[in-house]
Amino acid sequence: MARAKLLLGNWKMNKTVSEAKEFALGSKEIAAFAKANNVLVGVAPTFLCLQTVKENVADNMIVAAQNCHFENSGAFTGEVSIPMLKEIGVNWVIIGHSERRTYDNETNEKCNKKMVKLIENDMVPVYCVGETLEEYVNGKTKDVVKQQVRIGLAGLSKEAVKKIVIAYEPVWAIGTGKSATQEIAQDVCAYVRSVVREMYGEAAEETLVLYGGSVKPENIKAYLSSPDIDGALVGGASLKLDSYQAMLENLVK
Ligand code: PGA
Repeated sequence: MARAKLLLGNWKMNKTVSEAKEFALGSKEIAAFAKANNVLVGVAPTFLCLQTVKENVADNMIVAAQNCHFENSGAFTGEVSIPMLKEIGVNWVIIGHSERRTYDNETNEKCNKKMVKLIENDMVPVYCVGETLEEYVNGKTKDVVKQQVRIGLAGLSKEAVKKIVIAYEPVWAIGTGKSATQEIAQDVCAYVRSVVREMYGEAAEETLVLYGGSVKPENIKAYLSSPDIDGALVGGASLKLDSYQAMLENLVK
């Protein structure tokens, strides 16, 4: 079975509610184009904008949160739980983004707790992995990614593994304009899949593996034509409707 293609925009800490609404309203044609071409599309706004975006996009536009807590409720100031997201119809959540790993103590173990809870709730985790510049320079990419995948995906069922998304995002390529070459991206995404295969066998063939890190309209096609890259997680270039649309058009070309 051919795997789906996915374009997911990560808005990070960008857009006020009114700016997010403007994007959402303007994205309907893009969503229709994606549907007609069998591509999954989505955006991950801030918590504050999730509901507004959800209410103003086409049904097939995925609306993802950028984080969640693994407890359902409690004394966790500043956090948002899975039932809160579910109630407003948000079923996708990015976990383990490198910015959260760097600034917010998001560890592999914490990601695993979130992963397990998301699966229990029938949600789709988008689990980010990737090495820092120092690790890359020292040839540690695969060691790091292996550890992130092994811990992050521990204790899942094979059925769950078929539904999750993993995004390989080398930290040195995020927001730097220095994207990984197609060869590196394909090599590491294939490696990610091989680690999943070691853990869960053939279920790994259905896991969606994305590349992320300075993806733009000009380079998206090359990544997507690689056998183990099923889509892209995009920051900067997903913020404007025209570049978002151009990425989608180039992806299906
Ligand atoms: P970028 O961000 O596309 O701006 O490099 C990617 C990401 O952090 O997901």
